[in-house]
Amino acid sequence: MVPVQRIGHATYATPDLARQVAYYTEIIGFTAAERGRDRAVLTTRLGHEVLVLEAGAAAQCTRVSFQIAPDFDLNRAIAHFSKQGVRSERRTGITPGIADAVVFADPKGTEIELFSAFDEAAPRGTIHGIAPMKLGHQAFIVPDAKSMTDFYCDNLGFRVSDWMEDFFSFLRCGTDHHTVNFRTGAKTFMHHIAFELQDWAHMHTACETLGIHKVPILWGPLRHGIGHNIAIYHRDPDDHIVEFYTEMDQMKNEALGYFDPRPWHEDRPQRPKVWDRHSGAIVWGTPPAPDYLRSRPAMPAR
Ligand SMILES: [Fe+2]
Repeated sequence: MVPVQRIGHATYATPDLARQVAYYTEIIGFTAAERGRDRAVLTTRLGHEVLVLEAGAAAQCTRVSFQIAPDFDLNRAIAHFSKQGVRSERRTGITPGIADAVVFADPKGTEIELFSAFDEAAPRGTIHGIAPMKLGHQAFIVPDAKSMTDFYCDNLGFRVSDWMEDFFSFLRCGTDHHTVNFRTGAKTFMHHIAFELQDWAHMHTACETLGIHKVPILWGPLRHGIGHNIAIYHRDPDDHIVEFYTEMDQMKNEALGYFDPRPWHEDRPQRPKVWDRHSGAIVWGTPPAPDYLRSRPAMPAR
């Protein structure tokens, strides 16, 4: 098993690189640490690489990077995947901040870049746009959430935080309740990417900023049941759903096996469990707009 510790950055192919760069720098508030003709590498204002945008024919998430335990040799990752019959290779010069990685394709075809060391870009002093703290999680629609969940747990050390019935899993690799989600659906694609905000006041800033730029909020503010994060959702110019969230459940002690107490928990202590579709989705807030729902697979019949 290769011990993943946190999500690094996501890579998107985009048919309109200039439009995506403008949106993610001017509204979202990331910084272009590198800007070439066919690629931009964006960082948070704290200097962490968060998004790589590459010119391409179709808008899609092509790669995701994860940081593994610093003392875990990358060659051991190659040996692990070889034993599992998964082809992997060493690549260098991934981004300005990641010199060396082991790369393999997961069962849904996304290239996964595993790195153990990275350099930060220089932080930007001024706050511009929404300026989230970090990339927090990504949710994917896959043919079978269970088998994808097993792959991530068995090979990358993820743990199951919660399930919504048997079609939607939430997996953690650190203290955050979830870093990846898998939901069963007919078509395979990235459903949304989520960036963490500092607190409720930062959520207010995000709503105001989206409003000023006439970007519709498609769901929220709401508090989810699963993970208990407060969230808002909108779409970027390439039609990807973007979530901003804060106050996500934290499991700070794996041995104890429960999430840190919060006033809104109905279970005390709050342990990983299987939720039903209604209590799992919303503690408070209104249902999503049709523009959010058009890319979400229908819930399975019961
Ligand atoms: Fe999410």
